[in-house]
Amino acid sequence: MKCLENIGRYASFWGQTPRSSRGHAGPGGKAMKWKLSPKKAIVSVLSAIQTLANPNPTRNHQRPILIEQEHKDSIAAYTPPSELPYYGRSPPVYPAPIANGTTPIWAQAYLLASLTISNLTLPEKLNLTIGHPGPCVGNTAPIPRLSIPSLCIADGPASLRGQEYVSAFPAGIHLAATFDADLMTLYGRALGREFYNRGVHIALGPVAGPMGRIIKGGRNWEGGGSDPHLAGKLFAQVAKAMQGEGVVAVGKHWVGNEQETRRRWDWENNRHAVSAEVDDRTLHELYVWPFMEGLKEGMGGVMCSYQRVNHSYGCQNSKLLNGVLKQELGFEGFVVSDWDGQVSGVGSANAGLDLVMPGRGFWGEKLQEAVQNGSVTEERVDDMARRLLAGWYFLGQDRGYPETAIWNNLEKHGAVDVMDDHGGLIREIGAAGTAVVKNEKGTLPLGKKRRFVCVFGYDAQVKASPWTNRDRYGGGYEENYGWETFNGTLITGGGSGSTTPPYVVSPFEAIQHRVRKEGGILRWDFWSGNPTPYLNADVCTVFINSYASESFDRKHLTDKFSDDLVLNVASWCSNTIVVIHSTGIRLVEAFITHPNVTAVIMAGLPGQESGNSLVDILWGDVNPSGRLPYTVAKSEQDYGSVLDPAGAEDEDFPEDDFSREGVFLDYRAFDRDDITPRFEFGFGLSYTSFSYSSLHTTVQPRANTNMEEWPDRHKNIVQGGHPDLWDVVAVVRCHVTNTGGLHGAEVAQLYLGVPDPEKDEKTPVRQLRGFKKVGTLAPGEARQVVFELTRRDLSVWDVVEQQWRMRRGEYKVYVGASSRDLRLESVISLR
Ligand code: BGC
Repeated sequence: MKCLENIGRYASFWGQTPRSSRGHAGPGGKAMKWKLSPKKAIVSVLSAIQTLANPNPTRNHQRPILIEQEHKDSIAAYTPPSELPYYGRSPPVYPAPIANGTTPIWAQAYLLASLTISNLTLPEKLNLTIGHPGPCVGNTAPIPRLSIPSLCIADGPASLRGQEYVSAFPAGIHLAATFDADLMTLYGRALGREFYNRGVHIALGPVAGPMGRIIKGGRNWEGGGSDPHLAGKLFAQVAKAMQGEGVVAVGKHWVGNEQETRRRWDWENNRHAVSAEVDDRTLHELYVWPFMEGLKEGMGGVMCSYQRVNHSYGCQNSKLLNGVLKQELGFEGFVVSDWDGQVSGVGSANAGLDLVMPGRGFWGEKLQEAVQNGSVTEERVDDMARRLLAGWYFLGQDRGYPETAIWNNLEKHGAVDVMDDHGGLIREIGAAGTAVVKNEKGTLPLGKKRRFVCVFGYDAQVKASPWTNRDRYGGGYEENYGWETFNGTLITGGGSGSTTPPYVVSPFEAIQHRVRKEGGILRWDFWSGNPTPYLNADVCTVFINSYASESFDRKHLTDKFSDDLVLNVASWCSNTIVVIHSTGIRLVEAFITHPNVTAVIMAGLPGQESGNSLVDILWGDVNPSGRLPYTVAKSEQDYGSVLDPAGAEDEDFPEDDFSREGVFLDYRAFDRDDITPRFEFGFGLSYTSFSYSSLHTTVQPRANTNMEEWPDRHKNIVQGGHPDLWDVVAVVRCHVTNTGGLHGAEVAQLYLGVPDPEKDEKTPVRQLRGFKKVGTLAPGEARQVVFELTRRDLSVWDVVEQQWRMRRGEYKVYVGASSRDLRLESVISLR
């Protein structure tokens, strides 16, 4: 036994830290004491031995350890599976690029940061690379002698999670459904303001990974969906606006974090995380694309992901961090680990990780040792610390930043109210991201009329007790609500992306308010799956939802209780309106064609003003313009191989082959395979109608624009990638006219068919490359819509040249109201 204890000690020399079952520490991120069970200790030592044999450059600097004969005898009984066959699948890229402010907007910040770094001791610099105890989800070390405070890092993408007196904004997927770049900016600005006013320096958001590749993915709702153009615009607009308020935006998760199943290394059972097996072209054209846009706007931080990519863990993947992010995309900010996502010390340092959270992980004094023995250069440590401080200077946080006002809700504390008038904006975005997908017999809008309204379903009212955890309305981690539905109105998903709303306006509350105003009566039942019929009812609203959370993937895209509830109501109510709050794709086949289901509304995850946003749509105060940011299929099988997460089986090194579908996600796959969806990507109804006319395309480079096939190789890379990529090379114009009888806004969408002369079959028939919310237009009013197409919009990633290539030939241009409702067609020719 004694020898096993020793093994435990050796293992801890390697710096293994405990992982809580829910994934990471809460505010304060307290380190726990680690005790190894004998078997786990053996496994640990064997992993260590394996590391010694490891030819993978991400790990080959680790120090040897001595194992006495007695230990060898004890461990001989257990043979862990070998990782060796997987080494090298992710190409090594070393050394880590040293950022120096090449991108003009970073230059001044780098001057200041370099000066500061030159005044720091090695322990001070090292201290800046790890998490420390403090009030926030993550905290860096203060350097009092230079008046550098502890930087406060907080979740997350839709609110300052876990705090009181902050707002709960709609989730990312809901914002995406607005297809409205201006609202994305206003969202980022308001959110950023709340972080700023509470003295949070670094916000963990926005999200562009997961992108929603796995249909049942547990976190698909946190970001802008699986179309890179839409997701990228959201990512960039939000990040830019947040940073405009002075807060560093950390884009997450870089990259390939597309499922929750086996997303992390299970240290206790020595089960590896899933590996996202992504080919180069798919990586660039889908998963890297949105990040490029965020980086271009000056995004100051990127969070590396838990899982492996091509068998190398996300936070020590030199190809992704040193190669793509820092070299190819010229990233000048810092890379922070996902919480407890670091899995090696020297390996991660040399592969490009800059900051470990929430504790010291494998760094601290061990990184100092590594610097002293030459495994990691001091230059690399300088670069880590400089990148962090550059972000601080970049946003002027060194000048009068508000005091950090973040508290643990288990303690009595003060109240700093930063909500301002954000409720109004949240209500507006809530309505703008609501997509009406069925509306027959003139059901909607309800309009000014006395009515008998029934409200049914568990989703119509606030959950009787949502606060199982003070920090998350949406739950997650510790409670799963059955993983299908949330027994109360759903305004957000669960986990770190959840919110802490100051209040929740439920659909019932808002409907009741409106019915009292318009005249009429209400009946309700939030409990039964087969509510008592009211035969005189004019309208029956039925509220159902579809829940998801970080840490788990969804099990189904429908649930029987909810489908039966709708059918039971529709069996006697000839005017049944179904409202679905959903974290992602929710199939509707059970009831969509029922003649008594007269309207269906995809109400997304609208945030704290949920009921008000919905009533605005129901009664027509707002004419709906929300569009589906994904395809709703008729059958689960229509999604093919990306329906379920991989790695559920007990494999040692589970893989998920992204190359199977390549760039053909969502509508790209439905278009290629000619599958008729129930509702296609980009679809949503209005209470008025629109026509499209006068399509005009021009190849219209500005003066001195490089129109060659390749970007100019003599130009410096700046943050976001090659500067030529952002040049506007063509312009598309058309007219949209309101042909109906009500004021309304239309979402005009541009899809581009890139020529495929090589017939590589890797190029989709068309891809979204522009969207514009047009309006509000009065009846009869017309407006010109202008889409600018950049070099990158017209390019494909060339895996041989490792560059974006603007192909020669005819580009097909389609403009319309959805990915299947294409009203105008033309071409752009590049010779
Ligand atoms: C999540 C991150 C989050 C972090 C801090 C992790 O579990 O994956 O998205 O920002 O926790 O809460």
